[in-house]
Amino acid sequence: MKALILVGGFGTRLRPLTLSVPKPLVDFANKPMILHQIEALKAIGVTEVVLAINYQPEVMLNFLKEFETKVGIKITCSQETEPLGTAGPLALARDKLIDESGEPFFVLNSDVISDYPLKEMIEFHKSHGGEASIMVTKVDEPSKYGVVVMEESTGKVEKFVEKPKLFVGNKINAGIYLLNPEVLDRIQLRPTSIEKEVFPKIASENKLFAMVLPGFWMDIGQPKDYITGLRLYLDSLRKKSSSKLSNGTHIVGNVLVDETATIGEGCLIGPDVAIGPGCVVESGVRLSRCTVMRGVRIKKHACISSSIIGWHSTVGQWARVENMTILGEDVHVSDEIYSNGGVVLPHKEIKSSILKPEIVM
Ligand code: GDD
Ligand code: MG
Repeated sequence: MKALILVGGFGTRLRPLTLSVPKPLVDFANKPMILHQIEALKAIGVTEVVLAINYQPEVMLNFLKEFETKVGIKITCSQETEPLGTAGPLALARDKLIDESGEPFFVLNSDVISDYPLKEMIEFHKSHGGEASIMVTKVDEPSKYGVVVMEESTGKVEKFVEKPKLFVGNKINAGIYLLNPEVLDRIQLRPTSIEKEVFPKIASENKLFAMVLPGFWMDIGQPKDYITGLRLYLDSLRKKSSSKLSNGTHIVGNVLVDETATIGEGCLIGPDVAIGPGCVVESGVRLSRCTVMRGVRIKKHACISSSIIGWHSTVGQWARVENMTILGEDVHVSDEIYSNGGVVLPHKEIKSSILKPEIVM
């Protein structure tokens, strides 16, 4: 079986992290976002993943070559010379996606995180006999997404409306599809949207079916959702394989610590924290609801909450970092500094406090 991951876009909403790497390579729960997807695809027997890319293909490929052997899956690139939207890339990769088997293939948005119930999706696809299956999930704010109106008993999609202005329903497209090769006959090689042009058409012919995604789901393409997504992910990890989470008197709730990270005496860590490879957390540090990426040093008695600390940054002693502070790669926060929602571009030194949410260039 094959799969395509839509990797285009500049990831502007996740800056300053995406100033260092393309969005799919931003770490989430201690590994690049896209690796969560590739591993899930591999687990259900996908043998080749095509990355549909329109931006920095070298960076992605260099990086993923390393994982090709580790994960044991073939990874190839299909590169656009102009952004082709969410459907055009499928036409471009046509030859890579279809083979004699005539099997359906998966298509994934690169910025969604869930338990990826792909096996259940294959069963569902077989059971309805339509042309395409999509996963849907319930959200509180449907207007930011593609809204799906479906027949509850069969899953048949009656309506697909991308980013509706008026309320149509609260089940939304989760960005995980299983498509028969015939779907490719509907897509031309030009910039085009699967949500606006392809799905509404297939639905009008009664060949589009939706399955309600079991478990959690989040689009983690924005800092606030990224932090919420980590909480949901760790909750789910607790239920599935709690041995991966940390234990001890210094731990509160769900905390994921890479085995190469070190944690000093008298810290209090959690809930909902991920600490990446090679991090050094000195003594007396307090961390909650935050991500600390690879190679970060947190000095004594610093306190970090609801924030993301980018790769190889340092946070000085007694510093207080909170309220959606996002430090880009290699940022150095001096001792005793306070950051209230600072968004700091890579390679900066912060020597005075940031008192209200703002971008620091
Ligand atoms: N190759 C390529 N080329 N990929 C692209 C392009 C392009 O021109 N434009 C967007 N993508 C990729 C993005 O990288 C992302 O993985 C996916 O297509 C969806 O684009 P987003 O920009 O993240 O869209 P969205 O979040 O506003 O909405 C989409 O996702 C929602 C779920 O998170 C839609 O699919 C909605 O219907 C859906 O509800
Ligand atoms: Mg998105």
